[in-house]
Amino acid sequence: MSTSLSVILKRFAIIFIVVAILFGVLELFAYDVIKIQWVSFMGIQPSHRQMRDPLPVPAQSIPIEGPAFIPNIGAPDNPVPADQTSVARGAELFHINCAICHGDDGKGNGPIAAFIVNKPADLTGFLVQSLSDRAIFTTISNGVPGKMPALNENLLVRERWDIVNYIRSLQK
Ligand code: HEC
Repeated sequence: MSTSLSVILKRFAIIFIVVAILFGVLELFAYDVIKIQWVSFMGIQPSHRQMRDPLPVPAQSIPIEGPAFIPNIGAPDNPVPADQTSVARGAELFHINCAICHGDDGKGNGPIAAFIVNKPADLTGFLVQSLSDRAIFTTISNGVPGKMPALNENLLVRERWDIVNYIRSLQK
């Protein structure tokens, strides 16, 4: 009693259809056509959405930008001595990054100063010169919201202190 070829083919077709249907049903779940609320522990952790302000600095951490960014520790001393090298470097960096607004001699009369609404500060004047080194360093790092760009990504920490030393030399 050997089964004929057509019967065997028919059985294969039935098995194929059954498997295809099972597979199809599985895909409905795999592609979220029918959604199952799996328990996901990644969903329960504190997360940070795109475009939000950075998380606050954890207590006891040391900022990579140096002690000027540790809250409430007071002004750290400028770690870079204002020698000739530092001031010369500061001058060069100032002309690249700041002079367009603050002017070559720091008087706030750079080439684009006439065209911007918020006038750049006169860095030689009493107002700026009476600021601490730390205050000038943080201004360079964070900018002034809406008025002056933050330059911490353009200038290394050491370079910023060099610029502070250069600004001090403008007073004399
Ligand atoms: C796009 C123009 C622009 C550039 C570039 C710029 N500044 Fe300014 N800066 C300003 C403006 C505008 C102000 C005035 C902000 C205000 O009115 O409070 C200012 C203010 C300042 C102040 C005074 C801050 C205060 O608390 O009074 C300092 C110091 C300063 N800038 C330093 C720099 C240095 C150093 C650089 C380069 C590393 C630089 N700025 C680059 C536009 C600029």
